[in-house]
Amino acid sequence: MEWKPAKSSGIAVYKQIANDIEHRIISGEFPSGSWLPSERLLAARLNVNRSTVISAYDELHAAGLVKRVKGTGTLVSTELWNDADKRLPDWESYVKGGFFQLNNPINRQIYQLVHSGDDIVNFAVGELSPDLLPVSFMQHIQHTMEISQYLGYEHIQGNLKLRDAICAHLKAYRSIDSASSSLLITSGAQQALHLIIQSLLNPGDAVIIEDPSYAFSLPIFHSAGLRTFPLPTFEDGIDPDEILALHKKHRIKMIFLNPNFQNPTGTLISMEKRRKVLDISTKYGIPIVEDDPYSLTEYEGRSVQTLKSMDKDGTVIYISSLSKIIASGLRIGWILGPRSIVNRMADAKQQIDYGHPNYPQWIAAQLLSSEQFDAHIRKLRHGLRNKRDRIIRSLDKYFKGSADYFVPEGGIHLWCKLAIEGTEHQLFKEAVKQGVVFAPGTTLGSSTCHIRLTFSRADDNEIEEGIRRLAEAASRL
Ligand SMILES: Cc1ncc(COP(=O)(O)O)c(C=O)c1O
Repeated sequence: MEWKPAKSSGIAVYKQIANDIEHRIISGEFPSGSWLPSERLLAARLNVNRSTVISAYDELHAAGLVKRVKGTGTLVSTELWNDADKRLPDWESYVKGGFFQLNNPINRQIYQLVHSGDDIVNFAVGELSPDLLPVSFMQHIQHTMEISQYLGYEHIQGNLKLRDAICAHLKAYRSIDSASSSLLITSGAQQALHLIIQSLLNPGDAVIIEDPSYAFSLPIFHSAGLRTFPLPTFEDGIDPDEILALHKKHRIKMIFLNPNFQNPTGTLISMEKRRKVLDISTKYGIPIVEDDPYSLTEYEGRSVQTLKSMDKDGTVIYISSLSKIIASGLRIGWILGPRSIVNRMADAKQQIDYGHPNYPQWIAAQLLSSEQFDAHIRKLRHGLRNKRDRIIRSLDKYFKGSADYFVPEGGIHLWCKLAIEGTEHQLFKEAVKQGVVFAPGTTLGSSTCHIRLTFSRADDNEIEEGIRRLAEAASRL
């Protein structure tokens, strides 16, 4: 076996090994009934860990290609070739097909690591730690649920009670006027982005995005064949004059902005720039998609003005979700926009999933309309501010002035530049060995050697330990 997996190919090594063996089985090199090399031997030949080979053999077993005999080894299934005309599909060519672009391999690695059960401090995934979730509040609500009412298909725009509760919430907390007929419930802001891009835009359309941007939006733009024009994000947001210049050259079809406590930089677009962006939007008829999962997390409880609340002409499509203020696992997000485009997207969503699951919508409706919601948000803001202060104190302690960061006033991310020998990718590799993960800037479309440290997921004690491990990783470069 001369072949070796390519560690930087973007495909998990165990998958490459499974694919290679599958090809050898199909081509007859490993006939049915023959024994595959032992896990230990193959691991040594391919220069990988034994656990990687075990995962590859598990994959082949799940596909019905091999049998595992406890204590003896792994052999090619004898049931494969009873009929000489049978052929296995070439799964590899299917894997390369389809129109979804792959997520960045580092993001896929991060998700595997944080779900591996290993001792890893998670500064990479943008969600809330258990102490910030309204657990008892949700348990209480669940006990009052009349299940029989929530077992059927829902309205394709989403449960009406939830849409009404969101309208009231938008008015009270974000000064946005809305109507339930102009709302579509989605599976998080992620699906909202996906629906907007897939239902309203065409391949080749030019769109403006922020540099850096939310990582999981990037493959959606690329899968849809859009031309993306990233605008650098400064401490007061992007430069609106650049939008004009780009529009004159490329006819911009849509502008995607995350104006409040932006992911990943934590910045707010200044009021002056907001007004300018809105003026450009109305003057040239370019819709703005305001992606706003974070405005409610302002640590001091000050209200943050959304673009949508300033939008007098109806050019802003507003999306948000409960992921960063209640729980990401509920998968409740929404789109607020002109009725015609909301109907278009509701129609698309029906083709995708036949409407949003009822249970989480019911829970979300109760949470948003409960009197306890306000107390929960106050506690959340306080908790997030404590975590931000903790991570900053730890960076100052362990990096002794060599960490440069923007101090956010809300949100869950710290955008940070460390004075290190080497790239942020080398730091990432070393950090994984030390038991801590973060998001390298390149995964967010940035080339400025920054890293994103998300401080909302780790519990308070883990934060200092995570930064200690990161400093240890940096010192080993
Ligand atoms: C700016 C931004 N948009 C959208 C999302 C998607 O979040 P969800 O689908 O959980 O609402 C995220 C998640 O981190 C985000 O930061």
